[in-house]
Amino acid sequence: MEKLKYLKVNFLDVQQHLNKIFFSIKKVLLEVFKRNDFILGEDVFEFERCFSRYCGYSFAVGLNSGTDALFLSLKALDIGEGDEVIVPVFTFIATANAVSYTGARPVFVDIDEKTYTIDSEKIEKAITKKTKAIIPVHLFGQCANMSVIMKIAKKYRLHVIEDACQAHGAQYYFRNGRKIKTVKAGAIGDVGCFSFYPTKNLGGFGDGGMAVTNKRTLYRRLLQLRDCGRISRYKHAIIGYNSRLDTLQAAGLLVKLNYLDEWNRRRKQIASWYFDLLKDSKVILPCCADYSSHVYHIFAVRVPKRDKVAEFLSSCQIGTAIHYPIPLHLQPAYKFLGYKKGDFPVAEKISQSILSLPMHPFLTKKQVIFVAQKLKEAIDKV
Ligand SMILES: Cc1ncc(COP(=O)(O)O)c(C=O)c1O
Repeated sequence: MEKLKYLKVNFLDVQQHLNKIFFSIKKVLLEVFKRNDFILGEDVFEFERCFSRYCGYSFAVGLNSGTDALFLSLKALDIGEGDEVIVPVFTFIATANAVSYTGARPVFVDIDEKTYTIDSEKIEKAITKKTKAIIPVHLFGQCANMSVIMKIAKKYRLHVIEDACQAHGAQYYFRNGRKIKTVKAGAIGDVGCFSFYPTKNLGGFGDGGMAVTNKRTLYRRLLQLRDCGRISRYKHAIIGYNSRLDTLQAAGLLVKLNYLDEWNRRRKQIASWYFDLLKDSKVILPCCADYSSHVYHIFAVRVPKRDKVAEFLSSCQIGTAIHYPIPLHLQPAYKFLGYKKGDFPVAEKISQSILSLPMHPFLTKKQVIFVAQKLKEAIDKV
């Protein structure tokens, strides 16, 4: 194969997404400006309808972030002080923060060494009389082992709140003998939570989030919680929050939702190039479980001497990132929980060697080849 000398490769590229749909976005945003329905305008309800249909659940509530989708879902389920919620120790900190905001205690569980999602075999050990819920995180774009998690939840009567903030459009495969039932990420537990942070597979032009559910009572509580506890303009049934999805965001997201499957397919194509180009190298590639599709929000590999490798790639103008360098039990913010180094050996080990390679739907094959060549060169050199 031809050795490529120089090619800049950004880790992400939000601008190219926008270029592709610029005129449609401009048109829908102008419509909002004309209507002046900035708060809970018609695009919010239309986007909720379309996104709930896309996920396969009956109801969706547009919120101001993925963090609030998790927090308000926990509140809607009456989880608070004195309660415990099981959370994987290796995720973005917002998953645990949402639990802490309610006054409940996040209880960490180690991850599976292959998929990096919560180790479902270790969940039961973490359950106590105070446990009220499990938050599986569909990390990097792949679902956690939901068949096992749902069984545990049923056995101990726990709520399941899916953190699908990185897994828009991923699919879970429930197997029953030869039958396979396919369900979208976020549409398995009591409630599914999504983030529309600009770099997500479905990202807005600012913050945004969504909670999807099939339970009407939960839906009604979420509607009140996001809008100051309102039941009418100046009548408030509960102490709610201001966590509404902006109409401008919803208008943009409605346009982008039409591209989600196409862009996810493109991510899978790019992943398959990486797999092919790196298969005989020292790089540990992502493991795709047979129970989930992978939408490659993040393409995370493991490499020896990770920091030096990242530095070398950066010197070649290749953007990388680390998701995540510090597991939650070692974060200063969670010191008060009393965990110590060594408590979650898998997460600790993975966090030392994990490296996210460039991944977005607009990467070219040439760029992927360049990244793979430079990555192999880095491993041999550093
Ligand atoms: C796994 C996970 N959970 C929660 C969140 C929080 O979402 P937001 O940034 O929209 O609050 C994120 C966002 O990065 C995430 O990746």
